[in-house]
Amino acid sequence: MTAPLLWKVTKVIRETPDTNTYLLEEVNGTPVTYDAGQFLTLLVQHNEREVRRSYSIRSAPGIDRNISITIKRKENGEISRYLLNTLQPGSVFNSLPASGLFTLQTHAAETRPVILVAAGSGIVPVFSLLKKILQQQPLSPVLLIYQNRDEQNIIYRRELEQLQQQYEPRFKQVLLLSNPLHHETPPQRLNNWLFEKLLNDYRFGHFLLPEHIVHTPATANSILYTCGPGPFMRMVQFTARVMGFAETQLRKENFVIETIPPPAFAIDTAPRKVSLYFDNRQYEFSVSYPTTILQAALNHDIHLPYSCKGGRCGTCVARCTNGSVKMSINDVLTEKDMEQGLILTCVGFAENDIRLEA
Ligand SMILES: Cc1cc2nc3c(=O)[nH]c(=O)nc-3n(C[C@H](O)[C@H](O)[C@H](O)COP(=O)(O)OP(=O)(O)OC[C@H]3O[C@@H](n4cnc5c(N)ncnc54)[C@H](O)[C@@H]3O)c2cc1C
Ligand code: FES
Repeated sequence: MTAPLLWKVTKVIRETPDTNTYLLEEVNGTPVTYDAGQFLTLLVQHNEREVRRSYSIRSAPGIDRNISITIKRKENGEISRYLLNTLQPGSVFNSLPASGLFTLQTHAAETRPVILVAAGSGIVPVFSLLKKILQQQPLSPVLLIYQNRDEQNIIYRRELEQLQQQYEPRFKQVLLLSNPLHHETPPQRLNNWLFEKLLNDYRFGHFLLPEHIVHTPATANSILYTCGPGPFMRMVQFTARVMGFAETQLRKENFVIETIPPPAFAIDTAPRKVSLYFDNRQYEFSVSYPTTILQAALNHDIHLPYSCKGGRCGTCVARCTNGSVKMSINDVLTEKDMEQGLILTCVGFAENDIRLEA
């Protein structure tokens, strides 16, 4: 098995009354690689069992010296409350290596507007993407729309203001507060109408974009990343589709893992051979519907990575290079990812003999 990373908390930063950032250091000296927008899946020992929870990485590779995560307390949440109550400088915990597909699709030489839409703690992976684009993709203008309840709950408020000052006019942020504490601030909640208006303002150059992109419509060449509660992301993506965005221009990150319904299909229960290349080793085992590929691997003591086991996070992604896999849920992979053979083992069923790389 790929050895889990062992982290030590070196510093705790209070972001808002219910949210902390943790600066981390890998204790074993294992080289840590990650992309902006990815997450760590923490292996938390709680009440004498291991529980997995994923937390997006707040830092950006090549920009921030320390890797860091930000945890928001979920009301009645079992693990977020436990972590916020117990993690302090010197605390140690394990995690899987960084994973996730909520990463940049743009390159340094591209002139491609990027639209980031976040709510609450959904800012965490978006913040990492934002820093990377601003520092390493100098031709891409960025619009950030960030929804919060009130002034006290804006995570990274000061850093976002600093980035805006530093990168204006290439970077524009729109902060929306649904219940502002200051009476002079108008309450604003992102809805279809407001979202469309903000994008149209962007398109018409209200944000003083550089000459060569002032007239680029928001839909033309841009890429839209969203992270927040389910209904918020559904509204954003629905509006974007109505405005003409193609599926390839839309990326989202789910924080909420819902109960997994049973597959809405049945396939032949004959045993299928799985040839798996994982962690520099070759494995062979068989799997029959309704056992998922991940479960079959775990049953054979092959410790493939996973977190949500529900097709929502992408930790278990693998490439199918031969045969076919049917997935019961997929909230992560795009058409393009699937064309390239990517599958989710946690909700993947082998339709015939398959070859996988994980
Ligand atoms: C890709 C990803 C990135 C995330 N990034 C952040 C972040 O940056 N900051 C942040 O505050 N939160 C983040 N979350 C949410 C975080 O993982 C927890 O869901 C959150 O802290 C609430 O956990 P809890 O135990 O307190 O709540 P609970 O309500 O006790 O648990 C959450 C519910 O979701 C299920 N669940 C959640 N995660 C998993 C999992 N990994 N495996 C199985 N079941 C699960 C639980 O069974 C339970 O039903 C992220 C989630 C995902 C999937
Ligand atoms: S473990 Fe989350 S998508 Fe498979």
